[in-house]
Amino acid sequence: MPDIDPWGDVEIGNYKQKMKDFGIEPITDLEDKLPDSHLISRGIIFGHRGLDEFLEAKEKGREVAMMTGIMPSGVFHFGHKSVVDQILMYQEMGAQITITAADIEAYNTRNMSLKETREIVIEEYLTNYVALGLDLEDADFYFQSEGGNNYHLRSKQFARHLTQNEVEATYGSAAPSKITSALTQYADILRPQFKENGGPKPVVVPVGVDQDPHIRLTREIARKYREADFYKPASTYQKFMRGLQGGKMSSSDEKSHIALTDSAEDALQKIDQAKTGGRDTLEEHRKKGAKIEEDMVFELLAFHLIEDDSELERIREEYSSGEMLSGELKQITKEKLENFLVEHKQKREEARPIVKQYLQNR
Ligand code: TRP
Repeated sequence: MPDIDPWGDVEIGNYKQKMKDFGIEPITDLEDKLPDSHLISRGIIFGHRGLDEFLEAKEKGREVAMMTGIMPSGVFHFGHKSVVDQILMYQEMGAQITITAADIEAYNTRNMSLKETREIVIEEYLTNYVALGLDLEDADFYFQSEGGNNYHLRSKQFARHLTQNEVEATYGSAAPSKITSALTQYADILRPQFKENGGPKPVVVPVGVDQDPHIRLTREIARKYREADFYKPASTYQKFMRGLQGGKMSSSDEKSHIALTDSAEDALQKIDQAKTGGRDTLEEHRKKGAKIEEDMVFELLAFHLIEDDSELERIREEYSSGEMLSGELKQITKEKLENFLVEHKQKREEARPIVKQYLQNR
């Protein structure tokens, strides 16, 4: 089996080991060149490949781009939101934005129909992206199934540069559904450099570390493909937010996630039931303090609900010293979460006609 399976269950943690095994660079080296974002200061983005080249080009005022995609497999939850936060960060930096809805991948690897995936893309993804602040007018958004002739042509041409051994060593399998999804993804990643899209330029691809196998092979293909002078795509890697009960956060497990469309009532109940790092007795908690690394409520605050670093640090100190109790932490979180969800619901209503219009005019 390969060490990372982009279609399998994601393994959470062990980020240091993965960086070592796969040659992923720590993001901390580039911290001063990156915008001031909680994604960086809290280590949510932890590593990169080749981001130096991207940042240098940006500094010199050259054109740069960001490309990413999500497989439309179910509800959009807080675990997905970090990718959108990253998209917004790069949009603010002035990068061109390309986003794909990976419907061919969902068709081939998740047994879904294209129609089903389209509904999910519109309702769960695009509407949330826009509600979270993405400027769609300023982005190249496309469904893989509608990527255009040149995109599909190149995706097929890229096959020439891979061997069966390489594919099996990287993915653990050379099943046609996986090869097809992978070839499609290479074309996604190189798309911002196609001549129709302004030609070669540095591109960054923000992803979870499970997608690194695709990044590695796309970098190989970029080097070998003769018909264009592609830059090797750069990437940044983000940590996976864990599920509310600990373990994996998953779209199919209601209790593990909070969807951005959950009612406040449901969401607050999930917080009540979430795993915390509080101690068994009050006495023990006061004495030893919370095990903050095992607290899923704190994780939600850190990833999404508190912007101000000093506010988060204050909570971290009080909670880990035992001064703050789990119930109090949950109370703070519930207030922030409710505000977020109520406001987001309103923003989704405003986003809906924008998305509709965008899809019509494409
Ligand atoms: N494979 C990604 C996922 O499972 C989706 C995806 C498709 C993607 N094309 C991409 C991600 C290009 C980054 C870049 O979610």
